[in-house]
Amino acid sequence: MVQPYKHEPFTDFSVESNKQSYLKGLEKVESYLGKDYELVIGGERITTEDKIVSVNPADKEEVIGRVSKADRELAEKAMQAADEAFKTWKKTKPEVRADVLFRAAAIIRRRKDEFSALLTKEAGKPWNEADADTAEAIDFLEFYARQMLKLKDGIPVQSRPNEFNRFNYIPLGIGIIISPWNFPFAIMAGTTVAAIVTGNTVLLKPASTTPVVAAKFVEVMEEAGLPKGVLNFVPGSGAEVGDYLVDHPRTRFISFTGSRDVGVRINERASKVNEGQIWLKRVIAEMGGKDTIVVDKEADLELAAQSIVKSAFGFSGQKCSACSRAVIVEDVYDQVLERAVELTKDLTIGNPVDTSNFMGPVIDNNAFNKIMEYIEIGKQEGRLAAGGEGDNSKGFFVQPTIIADVDPKARVMQEEIFGPVVAFAKARDFDHAIEIANNTEYGLTGAVITNNRTNLEKAREDFHVGNLYFNRGCTGAIVGYQPFGGFNMSGTDSKAGGPDYLALHMQGKTTSEAY
Ligand code: SER
Repeated sequence: MVQPYKHEPFTDFSVESNKQSYLKGLEKVESYLGKDYELVIGGERITTEDKIVSVNPADKEEVIGRVSKADRELAEKAMQAADEAFKTWKKTKPEVRADVLFRAAAIIRRRKDEFSALLTKEAGKPWNEADADTAEAIDFLEFYARQMLKLKDGIPVQSRPNEFNRFNYIPLGIGIIISPWNFPFAIMAGTTVAAIVTGNTVLLKPASTTPVVAAKFVEVMEEAGLPKGVLNFVPGSGAEVGDYLVDHPRTRFISFTGSRDVGVRINERASKVNEGQIWLKRVIAEMGGKDTIVVDKEADLELAAQSIVKSAFGFSGQKCSACSRAVIVEDVYDQVLERAVELTKDLTIGNPVDTSNFMGPVIDNNAFNKIMEYIEIGKQEGRLAAGGEGDNSKGFFVQPTIIADVDPKARVMQEEIFGPVVAFAKARDFDHAIEIANNTEYGLTGAVITNNRTNLEKAREDFHVGNLYFNRGCTGAIVGYQPFGGFNMSGTDSKAGGPDYLALHMQGKTTSEAY
């Protein structure tokens, strides 16, 4: 019997042995910094001249690795490899496919500190954030393997005398996985294995800022016994490789996590039926948010300030779930703002290899510039209450920033910044706060801090987000516990780590036999 699913516990770094083990992980990562990584196509390792150079965002002189870069020709070769492998993988028993995931989870668990340390170096994640990312990758493997075992015999349907009906799920075909840099392990691995365990073959195109952790994951899947050609590794540019794969007539589905603009573009391109294509492509997209914490007047105000600060500035606000708007009922606005400013001013920022730093860098110079521009916009639209400075001389550091007293329609209240910036707006009362919370084009996460049960129930009905949290922050969904994904422009309403996620990667087949 497979043990029941339980999420991977987070590491307590105040325990000395855990701290030492993480430092060993860092040493291990140091030992392979700057190495070359190849493409993997049909099990064959291919080196290209052209490379993606992955650097440490906290120290841009430090090269994490050089990763070969696919062009169209190699992307086509990978499509063919995936097409060939699909013929056998789709017939491989679901139990066997699940076993590959269980084994991969075990391998990663044994190398947990090394993987987390790599995330600290490649993505600039503070220890606890890196540890959570690795734990989530393990969770996706464990959870989706079990989900597949549940679905393997299909779902019972009615039969009649002299007729036996069955409803089973079969795979779709070739999936293109385009994964983000902000959860470069968890979301990359989760979206990849959801597609694989359901019997599809995939081409994985990881984010260009974090390809090394993806290359290491591909090695783990090989070690876990995944047959050649099921997972093809094709890092490359969106314009050259991404579009080509999305448009390809053999592509059956695309699983994308990233920005709204890229998601919309993929959805548009995928909707076109190209020559030789005999299906409509499916798109599974997770595209960001503009997430709000609402604070009521009858609330634990310390909890409110702590929740806002943690959700806004954890991993420098670079989560689609991050709190980027705090909407506070006017009776308690000044108190919550004042406390949040105090807490923010106490936050330490610096290289995340040093565990005393709460916040590390943002991912790259483009992100740095975009965030600094939004801070300037925020200063026009409201009052700078904390932070506001940036320094990109050594790495890409932006101070945790609070913009107070903004209008609900202000740009910093509407546009996704994807950095450590949170805007505060005042609401007349709780109803008004929910109205403001809903006035964006997104609908991913949200939180409500209140002790008023009637207001909680109102929020449960009217606050239109995919992940709604009460009396806590709005980040940190756990696989299998809080299925994750949002409404409106946040994506395709799919729920990663949820009970119906795998079904998105399959199609239902009904067979009816007459006796
Ligand atoms: N799943 C993450 C969270 O809930 C975001 O992608 O914070």
